[in-house]
Amino acid sequence: MFAQQTEQALEYTAIQAELNDFSGAIAKFIAQGGKGCNVTVPFKEQAFKIADQVSERAQLAQAVNTFVFNDDGTIIADNTDGAGLVEDLKANKAPLTGTVLLIGAGGAARGVIKPLLDSGVSSLVICNRTHEKAIELANHFAPYGKVEALAIEQLDNMVFDLVINSTSASLTDELPPVPASIFSTKTFAYDMVYKNQLTSFCQWALKNNCLKAVDGLGMLVGQAAVAFELWRGVMPETINVLAQLRNGSE
Ligand code: ATR
Repeated sequence: MFAQQTEQALEYTAIQAELNDFSGAIAKFIAQGGKGCNVTVPFKEQAFKIADQVSERAQLAQAVNTFVFNDDGTIIADNTDGAGLVEDLKANKAPLTGTVLLIGAGGAARGVIKPLLDSGVSSLVICNRTHEKAIELANHFAPYGKVEALAIEQLDNMVFDLVINSTSASLTDELPPVPASIFSTKTFAYDMVYKNQLTSFCQWALKNNCLKAVDGLGMLVGQAAVAFELWRGVMPETINVLAQLRNGSE
């Protein structure tokens, strides 16, 4: 859709890499004339390791979702996930300057913390099922802003303006183990997962009277747009693309 919109000749298809041979799949694609690609679960950390040149945001995320291949076969790597999330949060007028809770401390969380801090989030609380991982992330990003890891019990009686779920719990229709008291009628809830129906996290947030609950389809489109710009030097329009995708999935 982006290629159509910007009148670029481009072929974009899905390749399934073998679990034990990601680098082989990339080498084969380059040999076939591939110019760049997106990388998704579960290869984002491996992608970071095989890149020749890594952007600062991918370096901080220690994960890569976009490759650009040079003519000499070297691999330039970036991570556009955080930019995609921030773009979608802004498009939805999410309260970035309020109190922000990030649930989860896996690769998806790691990729979005710096972009969040760069986009007006002045104080970020991270909470994860495995508390040690939240502490590790908070320490890693401490040089870039106020980031604090809280254990699940510490969230009791705390309310947030913006709650972002970066866990994969919604993929299996589960909920992260945080108390419903984090929501108020002013809370904006965001689930980085998307499905063809409202995710379990969005449903739960709405049931607890949050102001708005948005899934991660806009983040997907946003990260793809930034990747497209890296490949083609032109930033595509995303609002209509997102609307078309939403209509198509209804
Ligand atoms: P991703 O790249 O999607 O972030 P990951 O690095 O494996 O994948 O991290 C998954 C995250 O989702 C982790 O924060 C994980 O919590 P743990 O660190 O405790 O494992 C969280 N997660 C996954 N399923 C969950 C569930 N059912 N309930 C709560 N947290 C869950």
